[in-house]
Amino acid sequence: MTVRPLVAGNWKMNGTKESYEEFAKIAAGYDAALAEKIDMLVCPPAVLLAQFAEVENLPVGAQNCHAAASGAHTGDISAEMVANVGGKYVIVGHSERREGYGETDADVAAKAEAAWRAGLVAIVCIGESLEQREAGETIAVVTEQITKSLPDATTSANTVVAYEPIWAIGTGKTPTADDVAEVHAALRKSLVERFGEDGEKIRLLYGGSVKPTNASELLALPNVNGALVGGASLKAADFLGIAEAY
Ligand code: G3H
Repeated sequence: MTVRPLVAGNWKMNGTKESYEEFAKIAAGYDAALAEKIDMLVCPPAVLLAQFAEVENLPVGAQNCHAAASGAHTGDISAEMVANVGGKYVIVGHSERREGYGETDADVAAKAEAAWRAGLVAIVCIGESLEQREAGETIAVVTEQITKSLPDATTSANTVVAYEPIWAIGTGKTPTADDVAEVHAALRKSLVERFGEDGEKIRLLYGGSVKPTNASELLALPNVNGALVGGASLKAADFLGIAEAY
């Protein structure tokens, strides 16, 4: 089954309004030839969403949302607010939020439903810690996460899954190609068992120290339908270098 790849950038807490220049370079590089092959997306800090959303050919998304549509939640933003300023996607359950803010699988599932309610695509993140990997628990951990973090109404149109081993994020370390392929095969199996034929089409991204130098190998693996890129998405040349691995 052919699944259209997605190369998504997560700028995390980096960037200012002057970073528009770098974003515009990415948008310019996402030309017709690249757009014919893959989808691309940048998730900047929320304060830059409205500014970046004005560039039409490159979709933007948020890095998090609250499960509620509005209300007394100081400092939070809702999926509706993201959609209102032109966002198309929202990352939910990134390990930096699971670890830093105690977000549970149930919280992540509620945020995914909030994303859909607002017409956004949810990018649901899962991944094991180093301790879990060393204890041989990776497949069990990510299978439990994907099961509990994806609501029953998940489809290939409303959801993307990103597998990010926590120990590979921002460290320059990546799992071996065989390890990534093994995890993605297990995730695909779980998706197909639960969602049937549509489970074959749900995009499974790999994230964790993806760079132009390792992108070709990682993105060519079976069941890897793109990448969620952190550090290397901040520079147009690097991010486009990854996209051009396709
Ligand atoms: O969301 C992106 C990931 O956490 C990967 O970050 O590419 O800097 O390792 P990284």
